[in-house]
Amino acid sequence: MRSITIAEIKDPSYEMNEAMNVLRTNVSYSGEGVKLVAITSVDENAGKSVISFEMMRNYANAGLKTLLIDADLRKSVFSARYGATADDGLPFTGLADVLSAKGEINDAVYKTNIPNAYVLPVGNYVLNPTPLFGGKIFTAMLDVLKKAFDFIIIDTPPLGRVIDAAIIAPNCNGVMIVVGANEVDYRQVNDAKNQLLRVGANVLGCVLNKVGAENQRYGGKYKYYSRYNSEYRY
Ligand SMILES: Nc1ncnc2c1ncn2[C@@H]1O[C@H](COP(=O)(O)OP(=O)(O)OP(=O)(O)O)[C@@H](O)[C@H]1O
Ligand SMILES: [Mg+2]
Repeated sequence: MRSITIAEIKDPSYEMNEAMNVLRTNVSYSGEGVKLVAITSVDENAGKSVISFEMMRNYANAGLKTLLIDADLRKSVFSARYGATADDGLPFTGLADVLSAKGEINDAVYKTNIPNAYVLPVGNYVLNPTPLFGGKIFTAMLDVLKKAFDFIIIDTPPLGRVIDAAIIAPNCNGVMIVVGANEVDYRQVNDAKNQLLRVGANVLGCVLNKVGAENQRYGGKYKYYSRYNSEYRY
């Protein structure tokens, strides 16, 4: 198996760690067979990719063999944000390559430098990724991965922008909607939920993210930073 080093790993804040523990517990109570979960949101920047990564870390730390699938084939942030590179120095083979039959799943799942954490990155750019999620290769791939991992998280694009998450979610055991606190109207969240229910997805709940964001003076240099917390609510 190929491996990657995730260079930019900061320990999660106390609040994030606690929120992820609660989330993991709630997911475990949401049904016995829930081991493949999609993460989506109404719009961009809700924090799907942050939550997906933190979930991967939390599940892996809990001793579960965990896979993060980056299914945002249009706008992946994973390798840039976390400084992730393949240890063999070659470009990533990833989800887009597997789904377009240009790569093998065995070359596309990477062991990371976080114990128990594995990543399936996006791989090479494809022009129109949406139909790839509706194909047989995708469902067959998920079946194989479900046998190999204890828990799988799929980071998807926002539902309000592209339909991909609504195609991906019914193939998972459940889907969660990440909501940035004070960022969207509850009616939009409800519409997203109904859209997911219409396609037969199992909506597990919402992750309310960026709770208690506040600006603080930083280092006396008139710089400000935001501190975010996350919590999980049904
Ligand atoms: N809980 C959090 N703690 C700290 N920063 C956060 C948190 N959630 C989101 N952010 C910040 O908000 C921004 C958007 O987060 P992220 O990329 O995870 O959103 P996204 O929903 O995946 O966006 P996109 O729709 O573009 O894929 C990033 O700058 C990220 O660092
Ligand atoms: Mg994202």
